[in-house]
Amino acid sequence: MASVTFDKATRLYPGSDKPAVDQLEIEIEDGEFLVLVGPSGCGKSTSLRMLAGLEDVNGGSIRIGDRDVTHLPPKDRDIAMVFQNYALYPHMTVADNMGFALKIAGVNKAEIRAKVEEAAKILDLTPYLDRKPKALSGGQRQRVAMGRAIVREPQVFLMDEPLSNLDAKLRVSTRTQIASLQRRLGITTVYVTHDQVEALTMGDRVAVLKDGLLQQVDSPRNMYDRPANLFVAGFIGSPAMNLVEVPITDGGVKFGNSVVPVSRDALSAASAKGDTTVTVGIRPEHFDVSGATSKEGLAVSVNVVEELGADGYVYGSSRVGGEDKDLVVRVGGRAVPEKGSTLHVVPRADELHVFSTSTGERLTR
Ligand SMILES: Nc1ncnc2c1ncn2[C@@H]1O[C@H](COP(=O)(O)OP(=O)(O)OP(=O)(O)O)[C@@H](O)[C@H]1O
Ligand SMILES: [Mg+2]
Repeated sequence: MASVTFDKATRLYPGSDKPAVDQLEIEIEDGEFLVLVGPSGCGKSTSLRMLAGLEDVNGGSIRIGDRDVTHLPPKDRDIAMVFQNYALYPHMTVADNMGFALKIAGVNKAEIRAKVEEAAKILDLTPYLDRKPKALSGGQRQRVAMGRAIVREPQVFLMDEPLSNLDAKLRVSTRTQIASLQRRLGITTVYVTHDQVEALTMGDRVAVLKDGLLQQVDSPRNMYDRPANLFVAGFIGSPAMNLVEVPITDGGVKFGNSVVPVSRDALSAASAKGDTTVTVGIRPEHFDVSGATSKEGLAVSVNVVEELGADGYVYGSSRVGGEDKDLVVRVGGRAVPEKGSTLHVVPRADELHVFSTSTGERLTR
């Protein structure tokens, strides 16, 4: 087992003038489950492929434990990779698929059989060892692909969207299985997905990438509670955080009819940049809905109501700074407003996220 270090690792594809991955810096602890997440094209697969040795590194370095692997061929890195298209050999049994890499490496038959049986037990594949892949369900095939990686007992697992071939329900159960399996085996794992829910539920820590640049590496909790900038704020969380540009006033920000207090530090940091507004972030669950008569805060006209039993989401719009702005507000399941009605909402001051309008960086602590 080992740690993994990306030390300003950069990948510039030939013919491109902008790095696909730009000075990536992450230290992944021994045994950690790190999830790389971000929108399509942000450089997730490239980062993983650099670590696997499938892609040249044009700047910086990559280490596994204290070995510099930057220029080592893939076979010398002691890693195993599980891809989205796990491509099992159709003419081989499950057992032969799982043991194939060991056979190539010249491991003797009895030892291969023992390792395959052990992995099959961990993955609940014992009854299927003599079947061909076509006689398995999608989830079982995915587990065989995992098994192929496990039997090699690598120092590091790499997984690139391994669940995207599975249907939604199977994806949820398989992600729990992979996460608990990883915890049991304790093998350092780097896992790529574009799905922020998958990232938050699986990772010990999550790294968010955008345009080849690392935005934040943090625990799922901190990622949700303290997004480092506007991009992460909008990317992590579903429904997404509401982001509203509001004027700075004495001691706070003006939010409709109300003034919401904001720390002096945050306000002076914004003024120092010459900004007269900040962009506040409010999660849908962090609004107080004021009574029908008080009309405090921002008036939101209700367009759509999504009732989920225990609670509901109001999708509405509001006039902010002369423009119509879409907002999402979570309400209690027994206090769901009518479509077409108007709500007045005030953000809870202690749950307010404040970002610089000009740079997007977080200003509140
Ligand atoms: N072989 C290549 N040659 C040139 N450019 C490439 C190559 N592979 C990827 N790119 C570019 O590098 C950037 C990052 O690609 P990458 O595949 O790492 O993204 P990704 O985050 O994995 O996206 P997705 O979620 O769609 O899989 C993209 O702009 C892509 O077009
Ligand atoms: Mg990819």
